[in-house]
Amino acid sequence: MDDGAATGFRAALFADAGLERRRHGLHFGGVRLSEVAKRVGTPVYLYNADVIRRQYRALDEALAPVPHRICFAVKANSNLGVLRVFRDLGAGADIVSGGEMARALAAGYPAERIVFSGVGKSPEELEAALAAGVGHIHLESSDELEKLTVIADRMGRSTAIGIRVNPDVTAETHPYIATGQGGIKFGVPFDQVLPLAKAVHAHPRLRLDSIAMHIGSQILDPAPYREGVSRLLGLITEIRAAGVDSLRNLDIGGGLGIRYKDEIPLEPARFVAAVLPLAKETGLTLVLEPGRYLVGSAGILLTTVLSRKHSGGKDLVLVDAGMNDLVRPSHYMAYHDIVELEAANRPESVVDVVGPVCETGDFLARDRTLPGLKAGERLAVLGAGAYGFVMASTYNGRPRPAEVLVDGGRWAVVRERETVASLFAGESAEPRWQL
Ligand code: LLP
Repeated sequence: MDDGAATGFRAALFADAGLERRRHGLHFGGVRLSEVAKRVGTPVYLYNADVIRRQYRALDEALAPVPHRICFAVKANSNLGVLRVFRDLGAGADIVSGGEMARALAAGYPAERIVFSGVGKSPEELEAALAAGVGHIHLESSDELEKLTVIADRMGRSTAIGIRVNPDVTAETHPYIATGQGGIKFGVPFDQVLPLAKAVHAHPRLRLDSIAMHIGSQILDPAPYREGVSRLLGLITEIRAAGVDSLRNLDIGGGLGIRYKDEIPLEPARFVAAVLPLAKETGLTLVLEPGRYLVGSAGILLTTVLSRKHSGGKDLVLVDAGMNDLVRPSHYMAYHDIVELEAANRPESVVDVVGPVCETGDFLARDRTLPGLKAGERLAVLGAGAYGFVMASTYNGRPRPAEVLVDGGRWAVVRERETVASLFAGESAEPRWQL
């Protein structure tokens, strides 16, 4: 008989997220989920602040043997309520756009704790970063250096610079999120780093203070990190030998993989064992930019069953969250576990869980064993804390979901559900033509 207790990999996923089956249904961080769904509606994202703190502290403690800094990758989850949790932990912020910079500043991050990565920064974004006094700007090319020096000279501003190196190592992950190999748009190719470092050093307003890499996302094997860091070590030696004496930070990016199903996550201890001995040799402060590791397991998406269909031998469960709310399943074929809020002893069947968007690729899960579900019943989609809401769109005229922060048994809406009216605010059915 099924008593609703999670078993196997699901038990691990429940522990990762702070989920618990109790008599009155599924609880998340001590909060009864059906209550939140009733009050806020679905689809709704929820984030567990206790899990975020647990993840941050585990990494922070593992890095304790070396001077280090953890800069949360804002792109993974940029809700101000979530950013505040990291700010209070003392984290910095890794940003990739003017929009993310504005969010980090609005959440109260001191500008000097912000790292501006980002493969393509506009002149306006560079100017805004200099004006705000962003701590580190990571260069992606010599073109970008040229653009930056013009702006810095015009503004009379100085700044610390990092160079994001493409270390040409291949990490095993989905090809869309592998970023460390040659021939792709990210980072300065290895052989172009030394001349760029010298050019930065030669500029009176710029100080080369970081060498950086980010080799990809959802990485489960520490070996490519070790390889990448050892390649950076060679570069650092060359840069120092060329008389550049200003380096302070070794930024090795984010990418630590988590459990979505039965993966073995890249836990801090294994990661740190692979990179720490090498990082120590440099005498530099070790900087990390994790996103998914810090928030991925801490988030869930609640959705409601709209209807069921049987078609072409398939059982389909139509829910009110679609690819516009959570794009990872359809974009990367990513697995997100799905559980019912109210466990009951019902026969299971194999179903596709599909969304309301007019695309055949709009699904949350395929061929998933779930108990018989009725319209109106609610489901939780796990592992939705990173790259969930931030990648949501309003396709099909669908407002983006509300977001809720759970903390110590309490919960609060930290982003109201988007309204339909706001979707077309700023548009005009009566164009004012310019001649
Ligand atoms: N630093 C830089 C420069 C990055 O480009 C990224 C992610 C991170 C840090 C954080 O990586 P993380 O620790 O979260 O793996 N949308 C995809 C993931 C894209 C990651 C892009 N860059 C997904 O849903 O899997």
